[in-house]
Amino acid sequence: MLNDAAVLILAAGQGTRMKSRMAKVLHSAGGKTLVRHAIDTALKIAPPERVFVVVGHQAEAVRAQAEAAGVRTIHQTGQLGTGHAVMCGEEQLANLGGRLIVLVGDCPLIRAETLEELAALQRDNAAGAALLTTEVADATGYGRIIRGADGRVREIVEHKACTPAQLAVREINSGIYCFEAAPLWNHIHRIRPDNPAGEYYLTDMIAILIRADIRVAALRTADSSEVLGINNRVELADADRILRARKVRRLMLDGVTIERPETVTVDAEVNIGIDTIVGAFARITGATVIGENCRIGACSIVHDSVLADHVEVFPFSMVSSSRLAARAHAGPFARLRMDAHLAEGAHVGNFVELKKTRLGAGSKSMHLAYLGDSTIGDKVNIGAGTITCNYDGHRKHETKIGDGAFVGSNSTLVAPIEVGEGAYIGAGSTITHKVPAKALAIGRSRQVNKEGWTRK
Ligand code: UD1
Ligand code: CA
Repeated sequence: MLNDAAVLILAAGQGTRMKSRMAKVLHSAGGKTLVRHAIDTALKIAPPERVFVVVGHQAEAVRAQAEAAGVRTIHQTGQLGTGHAVMCGEEQLANLGGRLIVLVGDCPLIRAETLEELAALQRDNAAGAALLTTEVADATGYGRIIRGADGRVREIVEHKACTPAQLAVREINSGIYCFEAAPLWNHIHRIRPDNPAGEYYLTDMIAILIRADIRVAALRTADSSEVLGINNRVELADADRILRARKVRRLMLDGVTIERPETVTVDAEVNIGIDTIVGAFARITGATVIGENCRIGACSIVHDSVLADHVEVFPFSMVSSSRLAARAHAGPFARLRMDAHLAEGAHVGNFVELKKTRLGAGSKSMHLAYLGDSTIGDKVNIGAGTITCNYDGHRKHETKIGDGAFVGSNSTLVAPIEVGEGAYIGAGSTITHKVPAKALAIGRSRQVNKEGWTRK
């Protein structure tokens, strides 16, 4: 945490190069929007009341991201460039004093540690500004860092304005700066839109400060992936891959076994307990929380779900918005959705779908079933091929099955329906009336054998 700094995140641009109807900063990498990455990193170095997001293009949607994170927004009317975006913050920010860290909303890989290093460099050099730079193999699109014979930074020149010699420069501007607030606000109005794009470039501040005899420092970071700016969907995929790799690496260092980690996708906010084993090609996304000693089978998808300890999801299963209590099993090829709930030790096998259904403790449905809108008690056996007919074409209806009931294979339970505790349903039944506790229900026609029939 820095105690004297505010953070300004520039996120008002459209991002033309994304070729999208959605503002660039609302695209996601690593399971989080680009702007949310910037906000979350900012919150590691400054309290929420000192974090500001400049919004403009699709302002409402970007503001919603800021509000969800508890930070403030500044409106930029007309996107006249990064310098103009900062000017729009003058009213709210100039009187805060201290320092201002400027982040771009399309740089999701930057780490808080690097920002702290940048701020320390600015402080140690008593500089008016410190900028973050790096060397890249392909500098296309980035502003170039132009240094004098003495090695000191003189200016930043945008790609479009570079001379052939400047284009050869591999050191680029990250778009991230730590400014001393007073000289920034004193000089920012010197930025002129005197470039082919007609924009107010924040990058011009560097030469402006130097001309005013204010010191500028530069931190050249070795890890250039950290300052990867996202301008198009190829770079978005690059950032996604790096964020995914970081996430699985952190999980592994925290005690989770991940098989073939390069194939596994885990969203930023997911938590997984120690000694859980995640199979290849698994996707674990949204607000999922997984306990200790679980197994997530290869190619399974777990989204927005809560799994307690010792839960096993066998390969090729899909679990979304569901809860699995300790020692519950699901799959292979199971589908749990819309508030499915497996109580302790409940087992669901292959080609079983649960929707808005609670399967009680120790209950089993091992093969080929659809259980929807149902409340199923403890130690119930659901035979293969059981279907709850929950939909009559107009409305959904509920099924209740009491503790210890046995539902024979290929039963059709026409909801609304109730099967009492310990009741027994003969295989192949169509059940349309309530089955009392402990009763045997058979809802099928009797078998008739016609002797010698095929010989005739
Ligand atoms: C910018 C830098 C460039 C640097 C690069 C790093 C300038 C002029 N150029 O270029 O030196 O190498 O970032 O990635 O600053 N934005 C606004 N309002 C505006 C314009 C932009 O809020 O009027 C926001 C955008 O939403 C975006 C960020 O500022 O999040 C950067 O804008 P972008 O157009 O991507 O700048 P680059 O051309 O990449
Ligand atoms: Ca950019």
